[in-house]
Amino acid sequence: MRNEIEMRRTLEGLIDDFIDHSAFFRSWKPDLIGPALCERFLLSFDTLVESFPALIALGASRMKDETTRTVLAVNLYQECGEGDVTRTHHAIYRKFLTSAGLTPASTTENPFSQEWRSHLFEYISGSESTSSVLGALAAGEFLAQPALSRIYRVIESNYPQADQEYFTKHLVLEEEHVKEIIVTIAREARTEVSWNAVVEGFRFGLAVWETYFDHLTQHVLEAAEPQ
Ligand SMILES: [Fe+2]
Repeated sequence: MRNEIEMRRTLEGLIDDFIDHSAFFRSWKPDLIGPALCERFLLSFDTLVESFPALIALGASRMKDETTRTVLAVNLYQECGEGDVTRTHHAIYRKFLTSAGLTPASTTENPFSQEWRSHLFEYISGSESTSSVLGALAAGEFLAQPALSRIYRVIESNYPQADQEYFTKHLVLEEEHVKEIIVTIAREARTEVSWNAVVEGFRFGLAVWETYFDHLTQHVLEAAEPQ
């Protein structure tokens, strides 16, 4: 049976493939993306950040193993600002938006963001295998650092005055979540069957993210077209 390091390498390999084949990350380059396109991305991403606690909570509610449930509950507690509503990760994200002079729309959400949420919620609530649920959640955790750090490289130069915490200090914490979730996966995936279920959930999670980023590419680039 494979060990924790091998599992981590396999999952990171799937993330590398994801980024390499992503049209969004191919076009997300400082010389191609200006403030108007950044703004479109940043406002669209707001409702996803808002959804992360509910996704983790749903995942935690599916776990049978008490240790796994506790790891997810701690992750959820951190997403919720450890009890301080002004320090939730969504609040930290909003702090970036407002300090960048951007106002998130409170009523309208892109249909593709709704689709992203409903696909993940359905899978996490309906999958028969808790290993697959863990895999789907892990895809988001593994993707956070490589995706957001690439996104930030472009955003940073467009909003030098904004409060950058979401993309700096917060991202370090997300790396901790990857370490925690891989320990959890290694404990859950003791058999070939359960490991395969983790990978299946992980691939599903990535496919949902891929669809989101494909729509996002269209959405962001629409703003680049002359009106
Ligand atoms: Fe977070």
